[in-house]
Amino acid sequence: MSDDFEIRTPRLRLRSWRDDDFEAYAALNADPRVMEFYPSLVSRDESRDRFDRWCARTAERGYGYWPVDVIGGPSFIGLVGLADPDFDAHFLPAVEIGWRLAAEHWGHGYATEAARGALAFGFDGLGLREIVAFTTTGNVRSRRVMDKLGMRRSPDEDFLHPLIPPGHPLRPHVLYRLRREDFVPTP
Ligand SMILES: CC(C)(COP(=O)(O)OP(=O)(O)OC[C@H]1O[C@@H](n2cnc3c(N)ncnc32)[C@H](O)[C@@H]1OP(=O)(O)O)[C@@H](O)C(=O)NCCC(=O)NCCS
Repeated sequence: MSDDFEIRTPRLRLRSWRDDDFEAYAALNADPRVMEFYPSLVSRDESRDRFDRWCARTAERGYGYWPVDVIGGPSFIGLVGLADPDFDAHFLPAVEIGWRLAAEHWGHGYATEAARGALAFGFDGLGLREIVAFTTTGNVRSRRVMDKLGMRRSPDEDFLHPLIPPGHPLRPHVLYRLRREDFVPTP
């Protein structure tokens, strides 16, 4: 992927990673509000490893979780994009869409808007036929984004996340799917 990759939506830009995104990325991973539905906060060292992996993988694959800027506003409000989960589950392999925004930017419709841009890229640019999303059952904000995108959940596809220990309250997950023909690119 070139350094000038970008997906534009009415208010947002999803773009290539830059070295100077690291501090904001590490801060996001260390914020308990943002990480409420993840098993743990991410240390600065672990964020450094993940950051290096994300940058390399996004450049190599041509897609990944991209940094999101508000056009004419703040840079790096979070990350939204496409990934290839590599754990063992009934619905994999599949391309997943996901999102993580800094808490001060929640509630403006940014996650949904950025996700529409990423979905359009996945379906039109990459030619994907289906994109999935999943989250822990109690993450109502994230599930609402999935609903607003027109993604559909089948309760019989709920699963226990294999990378979260048995008995952990975040282990039960819901799966949502969106087929290319059901995607509506505008609200
Ligand atoms: C999930 C997240 C990306 C949503 O970002 P956002 O920009 O606020 O999302 P949007 O504004 O596009 O949509 C959020 C929706 O959730 C709704 N919502 C917010 N809090 C809610 C709650 N407690 N109960 C029910 N719905 C809620 C909002 O009202 C909005 O729906 P609406 O447009 O119908 O009013 C953001 O909260 C986040 O980064 N959370 C932490 C990271 C995370 O959990 N990521 C997902 C892991 S799978």
